[in-house]
Amino acid sequence: MSVKLHARHLARLVTLHEEGRIIGHSDRTEEIMRALLGVLRESEELPEEAAMWPLAMLPHDIGKLAVPSEVLRKPGRLGEYERGLIVLHAVEGREQLSWLADQAAFLGDQGAARFWRLAATIAGGHHERTDGQGYPLGLSGGALPFVVRAARVADVYEALTARRSYREGLSHDDAIRVMRFEEGGFDEKLLLALDEAMGRQRVPAD
Ligand SMILES: [Fe+2]
Ligand SMILES: [Fe+2]
Repeated sequence: MSVKLHARHLARLVTLHEEGRIIGHSDRTEEIMRALLGVLRESEELPEEAAMWPLAMLPHDIGKLAVPSEVLRKPGRLGEYERGLIVLHAVEGREQLSWLADQAAFLGDQGAARFWRLAATIAGGHHERTDGQGYPLGLSGGALPFVVRAARVADVYEALTARRSYREGLSHDDAIRVMRFEEGGFDEKLLLALDEAMGRQRVPAD
């Protein structure tokens, strides 16, 4: 199976597990990363593997399969134990995708191994914050690879702007404002690039 198909299928499994609460999140993060990359390429020297970043976003929440769907779907505040389960999704995602990387390497498919290794890095780090207040490790700043910081920007922007069955999504401007002033813990350069990338896609009001 091609990594492309496999990654897309893993994203579908997450949607299935969440029982329709969240639809299209992973696919949208892929699109946002692609748009972000388009802007970043204009000013940054990016590694060759950057071409794989959008696709590698697809399975970033695969670890949610280790979290009971009742917890994922629970409205309101979560208890300590439930929050621990949510943290687990980043750890489990990294584990599962690392396993795929190891298997691909074992079978001699180095291209697939590189892709799954990247996807594992994203899954494990996509809830880390540059101010060290994220999870699971509370890594900060330079300890976070650039792709991981970019992944969080794409992930949070999608979560804020998407319309869900239980609420409307924020506008582009409101989402950027929330990310800058309320959520915090983002790389400023990435926020500017995100604003430019997704602002370009906005349909002007007349
Ligand atoms: Fe997540
Ligand atoms: Fe996510």
